[in-house]
Amino acid sequence: MAEHNLVEPQTVVSYPNSDWRGSSAAASAAVNELEQGKVLFFPHLAFSLTPDQQKLLDPALVDPKRKNISYDAGSHQIKGVASADKEPEIRKLLEDFYQSSLGLIETVLPEYQAVLRKPVNSLRLHPVSEWTNSSSWRKDDTRLHVDAFPSRPNYGERILRIFTNINPNGEDRVWRIGEPFPQLAARYLPQLDGFSPFKSWLQHKLHITKTPRSHYDHLMLQMHDKMKSDADYQKNGQQITQRFPPGSTWICFSDQTPHAAMGGQFMLEQTFLLSVKDMHNPEAAPLSTLQRLTSKQLV
Ligand SMILES: [Fe+2]
Repeated sequence: MAEHNLVEPQTVVSYPNSDWRGSSAAASAAVNELEQGKVLFFPHLAFSLTPDQQKLLDPALVDPKRKNISYDAGSHQIKGVASADKEPEIRKLLEDFYQSSLGLIETVLPEYQAVLRKPVNSLRLHPVSEWTNSSSWRKDDTRLHVDAFPSRPNYGERILRIFTNINPNGEDRVWRIGEPFPQLAARYLPQLDGFSPFKSWLQHKLHITKTPRSHYDHLMLQMHDKMKSDADYQKNGQQITQRFPPGSTWICFSDQTPHAAMGGQFMLEQTFLLSVKDMHNPEAAPLSTLQRLTSKQLV
């Protein structure tokens, strides 16, 4: 682990698991560490592809209009596959990864098992190095950020993500990981614009957002943008560089843990949503932190 300006010890916590199901170790510690914003790292947990699935590791399979291929495990809907004849195979791969992710939750984060919602996952085939072609700095995920979605307000709901590096050529996925959320929020809050319920209502009426943005969504989105546009923070903000080799897996709350993808290609990612009330310690949620710091009810 290379260090720029180290935040605090153990931003990334390693776990020995090598199976997606059943070899549990220290499950109760995991939920606490995750909710504190740490990254749970499983250096020996590989998601193995069959020889036929290896052939799917081809960026040409992604619809040129989309960044990734995505799969909704609830509706079985798949999006972003360039050629329809490959859809069944890719759907099977993403369904398998979803099932493995459920196994990992059951093993490492059992108290989330019954309460995680809206499983969506993605097959990411493009090299991170090609993202920089993206014209908008807002969409540039090589800049440190916390996840916040412009068109999909989430009212404080947590974004839990499981990632696994499936690169067949030995290439690491490289992340930068930033400081704890309370510290980040305290620094950026004074710079954020006030919330306008009228503007939020209007954005919804104009179909810019799917539902009206809450005060929470407004702050999170502003923080996402301020972080990405702040060159000094990007360069000098507290951060570490972490490499995730092929055959490794990691979990974090991407709405809480500042992260930036700096390199790599070929990854599977599973997202779940989680209500704040269903956390082990709801006080650790970004919503609770922001409410504490602003002394306001934000949703
Ligand atoms: Fe992100």
